[in-house]
Amino acid sequence: MSTATVEKETTGTPDGGSAASHKISVTFRLRRFNPEVSAEVTWQDFRIDIDPKERVLDALHQIKWEEDGTLTFRRSCAHGICGSDAMRINGRNRLACKTLIKDLNPAKPITVEPIKGLTVLKDLVVDMEPFFQAYRDVMPFLITSGNEPTRERRQSSEDRERFDDTTKCILCAACTSSCPVFWNDGQYFGPAAIVNAHRFIFDSRDEGGEQRLEILNEKEGVWRCRTTFNCSEACPRGIEVTKAIQEVKRAIITRRF
Ligand code: SF4
Ligand code: FES
Repeated sequence: MSTATVEKETTGTPDGGSAASHKISVTFRLRRFNPEVSAEVTWQDFRIDIDPKERVLDALHQIKWEEDGTLTFRRSCAHGICGSDAMRINGRNRLACKTLIKDLNPAKPITVEPIKGLTVLKDLVVDMEPFFQAYRDVMPFLITSGNEPTRERRQSSEDRERFDDTTKCILCAACTSSCPVFWNDGQYFGPAAIVNAHRFIFDSRDEGGEQRLEILNEKEGVWRCRTTFNCSEACPRGIEVTKAIQEVKRAIITRRF
């Protein structure tokens, strides 16, 4: 077991004050894969000094910028909005930019690996194309017929509330890649696609609900779900993913939505 050593640094703040930064020595155990070098997957340890109040994304930046520039991972916003840095951290899907090191028991090595069920391209980067294809397949856009309205499409707050939860999705794939059905059968649409279908099926302004229900009634659709709740537990946006899937299942049976 690694031991954590503490050192104290004082840094300036914009208002001229000072803030104490307590760095500790933390081991990050990263899953490495570079098909241009070797077909073999390896684990590599990096021991760095870092403030445990920093995030896993900050540690990955520090490793890339100071230890090994070949380390490859995705990130963009760094603030939980773009959904590009979902990773398996200590065996659980999380966003690296929303995961504080102090919450991971940093006295022990922290493991970071790519999300499961999608082909690894390099290090922590997976091929997201099958994930986005499933998303496109459920037609995640408003479908209406007839003439363009001459003013905004009105909706009551009760009708808006009906699909509020599923509007929060950032397409990070943490849910889909935590689903055992998806691991075993990459053909399954997966929770994220169903969440995004839900967002439009239950929108009172939309007219494409029947079409989407037919798509999700196919053999790769909602009936593959085994209600394991992994998806709801993994979602960094707190979306009730399993509940959304259940609502779509019920809508297929009752045709009421
Ligand atoms: S439902 Fe949650 S976990 Fe799944 S893709 Fe959307 S934000 Fe990510
Ligand atoms: S980098 Fe955008 S969500 Fe983490």
